[in-house]
Amino acid sequence: MLKIKQLNNNQNIEGKRVLLRVDFNVPLNDGIVTETSRIEKVLPTIKSLINRKAKIIIISHLGRPKGVITPKLTLKPIAKKLSSYLSQDVVFLEENVGKNVIKKSKEIPNGKVLLLENLRFCNEEELNVASFAKELSKNGDIYINEAFSCSHRAHASVSGITKYIDSFAGEMLFKEVNFIKMLTSNAKKPVACIIGGSKISTKIGVLSNLIKKMEAIIVVGAMANNFIKYKGYNIGKSFFEKNQENLLKKITEKCKTNNCDLVLPEDVIVAKDINSKGHIKTLDKIDDDDLILDIGEKTVEKISEIIEKSKTILWNGPAGYFEIEEFCSGSNKIAKKISENTKSKSLTSIAGGGDTVAAINKSGCSDGFTYISTAGGAFLELLEGKILPGIKALEINE
Ligand code: 3PG
Repeated sequence: MLKIKQLNNNQNIEGKRVLLRVDFNVPLNDGIVTETSRIEKVLPTIKSLINRKAKIIIISHLGRPKGVITPKLTLKPIAKKLSSYLSQDVVFLEENVGKNVIKKSKEIPNGKVLLLENLRFCNEEELNVASFAKELSKNGDIYINEAFSCSHRAHASVSGITKYIDSFAGEMLFKEVNFIKMLTSNAKKPVACIIGGSKISTKIGVLSNLIKKMEAIIVVGAMANNFIKYKGYNIGKSFFEKNQENLLKKITEKCKTNNCDLVLPEDVIVAKDINSKGHIKTLDKIDDDDLILDIGEKTVEKISEIIEKSKTILWNGPAGYFEIEEFCSGSNKIAKKISENTKSKSLTSIAGGGDTVAAINKSGCSDGFTYISTAGGAFLELLEGKILPGIKALEINE
């Protein structure tokens, strides 16, 4: 049987160099980290390695610099942020492979942390060049992948490296993979999925896979605009993806064949632009100059009823333009209802994706979910049933 390899908690790693792959691909504004979930998430792993007196060498990518050294995508500000979380000076190195890095990785005292520069400043990372993966592996004695959110990338630091160093799954990654797999194979029924985001074409795979396994699929956010338009309503100036009629038809038919309830907004909040006041409208009242920016009250009620009946809920994609106060009500109310039912009615709730996490954090309900994944693409690909290269690389036959 295939099993993901994990590091034994009792294994003595004192003085060992642990090369820890994390995902510090976080939003930055003028060198300030504006969303810290991905950093906070791996703190327990880093702290545990500190307590076990390992030498911790952290590697990550940030953004998509495509092999070019791009000063605004340096990981240096993250070292500062991490230092404040860990109450120790995290040493930052402006390189990630080579003699100097190996030397520094050996010199740092036990229980101390070293952060290496953005891996994607080197072309070889995304190309998964074997020699680069091998060089990178020399910075550690063991490798831990605690970056589920980039495990769908067959990159040197995610999959290639595991050929050259004893490699393990981090605790968070292990938990995350098992949770998502449970959701698609063994979830308590009825199961409903709330899916948003802007592009239907990027989520077709996941929708197709989930329709077969869920009792209801609720489409919200800009993605719902496609369906509203397909049903013949005017969506004004709202965002939609062109030439997707066949896809929409297929999804609608597949839902019918599989007895999966396809739930779409019945009313929406519209405004003339994102800085104007929002108004509730039923779908038949949308004007040419309207912009759909959130779901309306009736839709929220309908979604709440489905949440009430469900035993498992999956959520990916906010209900509206939640970043703006005027249009965050739909996402807030969904988050609140899921959180209440998770706490009081043994609902299993799993949410994933950067925007969804940000919307849940904004609603103040993040402690009410069974599991929140900071992953976007990897979360969706695992839900789709795809094999993730970073996870495959950690599997052993037992
Ligand atoms: C993410 O943000 O989903 C991961 O960090 C992966 O980033 P990428 O899409 O640039 O590979």
